[in-house]
Amino acid sequence: MKHLLYIDDLTKDDINTIFSRVPGMERGFFNHSGDPIAPNSDAIMATLFFEPSTRTKLSFHTAMYRLGGKVIDLPMDSSQKKGETDIDTIKTVAEYADVLVIRHPQPIMAQLAAASNKPVISAGESSLHHPTQALLDLYTIRKYCKDRRSITVMFTGDLYYSRTVPALVHLLRQEPYHVNFIFTSKVNPAIMIRNHVAFSYTDERVIPNVLKSVDVLYMTRPQKERWEDGEVGSSFVLTKELAQTMRSDSLIMHPLPRNEEIHPDVDELPHAKYFEQVHNGVYVRMALLHCLFWK
Ligand code: NCD
Repeated sequence: MKHLLYIDDLTKDDINTIFSRVPGMERGFFNHSGDPIAPNSDAIMATLFFEPSTRTKLSFHTAMYRLGGKVIDLPMDSSQKKGETDIDTIKTVAEYADVLVIRHPQPIMAQLAAASNKPVISAGESSLHHPTQALLDLYTIRKYCKDRRSITVMFTGDLYYSRTVPALVHLLRQEPYHVNFIFTSKVNPAIMIRNHVAFSYTDERVIPNVLKSVDVLYMTRPQKERWEDGEVGSSFVLTKELAQTMRSDSLIMHPLPRNEEIHPDVDELPHAKYFEQVHNGVYVRMALLHCLFWK
């Protein structure tokens, strides 16, 4: 049994194997010889989300249905309302499903996974981990940047509480091209160690001046649900005018949902890739589930 809880649970080879299956999944899940991959219609995936989600949960559901598998979902009116613990809920659902996809607001994924006798895939844990989002983000970046020798990636928004950022940084550091990172912050540019990643911050007021030189602008929303009293968020807003100062081959990425940080007019520009990330998320998760069930 192999869980996927943290991004470093995957080796470079694992990631390349998953990514090599994505184009086939997009073509209608044909393998390299052009044969249809026999769906395992007996496989059942359970989703247990103890925190809100649109894309992650529904893309896992879509991925499993497209592979021919089945899906069960922890209902809103589950026995948790009768005081059942998360651990007992996991132990129960592990008796029904072949794989559990879990999102939890607390840093307890390892304990939850230990309670499961089936593989667990993390769909987001506290403000720290979100391995499958990092995979689809890297897949999107590779699609456009794989032939470059060096890229500049600028991260903006709530970098302290965004769990999608550390894992993507971890993956980008292993890429064959050189990555120049820029982390921006509203207040007190300083070095902060987060999730074993040292971020050296640049004041976000410089963003408009450096936009021209970035290959990837990776934006995040204010994670207000995790803020302490008195915290203030980034005030940077990407307007269409500002986005048009970027090079035409640069990418604007965001894990979504967005709040006000990207004006909706930006969506029509060719470098806005956040809905393509949504699209890729289905096929990357299909490839991941495929690796789990069909080896
Ligand atoms: C992200 C998350 O849940 O961390 N969303 C997602 O999975 N696509 C980002 C966020 O909530 O801001």
